[in-house]
This record gives sequence, C-alpha cells and structure tokens, in this order.
Amino acid sequence: MEMVMINEESGSSCELLQAQAHLYNCTFNYINSIALKCAVQLGIPDIIHNHGQPMTISQLVTALNILPNKADSLQRLMRILAHSGFFVQQKASKDEQEEEYTLTPASKLLLKDKPFKAAPFVHLILDPIISAPFHFMSTWFQNDDPTVFETAHGKTFWDCIAQQPKLKNVFYDAMSTDSQLISSVVMKDCKGVFQGLNSLVDVGGGKGAMAKAIASAFPHMKCIVFDLPHVVDNLQGTENLEFLGGDMFEAIPSADAILLKWIIHDWGNEESVKILKRCKEAIPSREKGGKVIIIDIAIDELKEDKETILETQLCFDMLMMGLFNTAKERSVDEWKKLFVEAGFTNYKITPILGLRSIIELYP
Ligand SMILES: C[S@@+](CC[C@H](N)C(=O)[O-])C[C@H]1O[C@@H](n2cnc3c(N)ncnc32)[C@H](O)[C@@H]1O
Repeated sequence: MEMVMINEESGSSCELLQAQAHLYNCTFNYINSIALKCAVQLGIPDIIHNHGQPMTISQLVTALNILPNKADSLQRLMRILAHSGFFVQQKASKDEQEEEYTLTPASKLLLKDKPFKAAPFVHLILDPIISAPFHFMSTWFQNDDPTVFETAHGKTFWDCIAQQPKLKNVFYDAMSTDSQLISSVVMKDCKGVFQGLNSLVDVGGGKGAMAKAIASAFPHMKCIVFDLPHVVDNLQGTENLEFLGGDMFEAIPSADAILLKWIIHDWGNEESVKILKRCKEAIPSREKGGKVIIIDIAIDELKEDKETILETQLCFDMLMMGLFNTAKERSVDEWKKLFVEAGFTNYKITPILGLRSIIELYP
C-alpha cells in the first residue's frame, strides 16, 4: 500500500476529512431536493395524512402500489427525508423492528387539501426548465448573453412563461400558494400596514391571491390586480377587486397604495428605479395617505439570527441570477439606494415575514 504523507499544507488528517465531508455535502445538496421532489410526486405526505396514523414502510408500499422489491429503496428515501426534517421516523413499538413515519410541519405544507401549500413551489423550482440554467452558469460567465436563462433556453424567462402553458400554470400556482401563506401572516401580524387605505393596486399581482386576502379583510378598500394582459385576461373579480392588464413600465393605475410583492427582486437597479418611479406617480402625497408596500427579501447581515435564513436568501439570489438579467436579492443598504434614487423620502423595513420583510415606502 502506498504511504501518503499528510504535509503541513493540507493540515491534519481530521481537517482534511472535514474538508472532504464539507465538499461532498455541498456537492450532494441537490440529492435532498430531488428526494423531496420524488416524495411530492408520489404523494407520500397525503398518503400518510389520509392514513390518519403513522405508517410503516410496508403500509406505504401497499398504499403507493409499488413493487414489494422496492420497499428497501423506499425506506432509504424516507430515511433521508426524515433526516432533512420532512418526516419523523420512529419505532412502531419496543418489540417491533419496523420504523413508522409521521408528518412534520414542513411536510404538512405539501398536503393537497390544506389552505397553505408549498408543493407548487417544489414543482416550479425543480422543474427542468428552471433548473437547467444553473448548468449553464459558467458558460454564461464567459459569453455575452444577457441572462443565464437565455444561454440555456435561447429566450427570456417571461417569454418562456408566456409561451409554455404548463410552465405558466406551475409558475402562477407557486406564486398564488406563496401569497396565500404570506397574506395570512400579514393579516394576522401586520394588518395595520393596510389600515386607513381606501384603494390599493397590487402591481404584478399574478392571479390575485394576495389582493383577494386584502380585499376581503378590508371590504371598503377598492383593490386592483395589475399584471401582464396574458396573466389577468379572463380572471373574474369580486365586488371590491378587479383585474387589469398592462405594463408596469408604462403606467400604473392610481391608488392610495401600491403593493409590490416579489416584484423588485426580479429586476436590476435601473428597471427597479423605473418601476418605483411609476409607483410614486400613481400615489398621493404621504400626508394624503400615499405609500408603496414592498414584500421582498432584505438581507441584513447584522441580524442576530440571520444564519437560519441567510442561506435561503442567498439561494433566492442565485435563483434570480439564473432566471433574470440583473435581478437580485438586496441588502438593506441596496434597498435604501433604490429608494433614494426613485425619489422617496422615507422608508421602514420590518423583517417579520421569515425570509422576507415588509417595507413601507413614503413619497
Ligand atoms: C415573481 S411574480 C410575483 C407575483 C405575485 N406578486 C406574488 O408574489 O405572488 C412577478 C409578477 O410580475 C408580473 N410582471 C412581469 N412583468 C410585468 C410587467 N411588465 N408589468 C406588470 N406585471 C409584470 C408577472 O406576470 C408576475 O405575476
């Protein structure tokens, strides 16, 4: 056997092995995502939920109608998903060998018939069209294509969405389910942000999930969901909510407040300033109640508990880089620069939406 000397440069063997484990771990991250996608596609969370009690692998094999010789593979899939927090794995009883599985708060978000769903987001992010650009990132760094997405697919993300009905459904489904969850938190914990407003335009409001929640919490408020015509055409409003097609770079309908949820992060600084200026034109002065409400990530490196959310925020930033041109997740300082450039005088960032913050912006 060949003797390998561990020299000073490569450090102790412990350091060397830790470095290798760290590298392997990062390289393997996608396996966790794909295991999650597999469980969602097989409908495992719903099967366990509908069973009404913890399920063993043999019960899962029967419920999933898969070949018994795949039981061992299913157990291994469940084991890694239990490790990553989607199932609780426990012994059925002291004498029994077989493990059984229950849901966790994270896998409960994957159930089909619950008010808050996250499966559409898993489907979107792990759709091959969305994940492909990441394999072209190094190519893109060395060419002059405007976006990584265009290097991968030869067209922009928004054109792709408009042209591919299946992807379009997946995308707007993911947006709507996120908005259902976020609107419930907003209405519970920061309803005051919308208090006193008589009208609101949800710019880039998609299929209207966020605006619907606001309109029903404030029945006197006139709400408009403003999005690209192909998104809102044929959508039915309610008594105090209407859908309007248009282009936010051209003009935005007037209202007391403009809501921008997950909009500015899709754009570079130049376009973002343009959108914010259009918003400013659409609202009255601060004294008359005018404001812009932004729901987006504001990276705060100084925040004490940042570690739990920073990695996800940085992944969102890479997602923006993979899909759009100069889109990005911004730090608190970067947001401030945008606001100043767009001519706003005052702002308040409240980081109470987990990864995201609610930002109130005043003219
Ligand atoms: C990331 S999605 C956010 C959707 C929604 N606000 C939410 O959070 O669920 C961005 C939205 O901007 C819309 N959008 C893109 N370009 C637009 C434009 N030029 N004018 C108006 N809306 C636009 C898209 O159709 C999409 O609904």
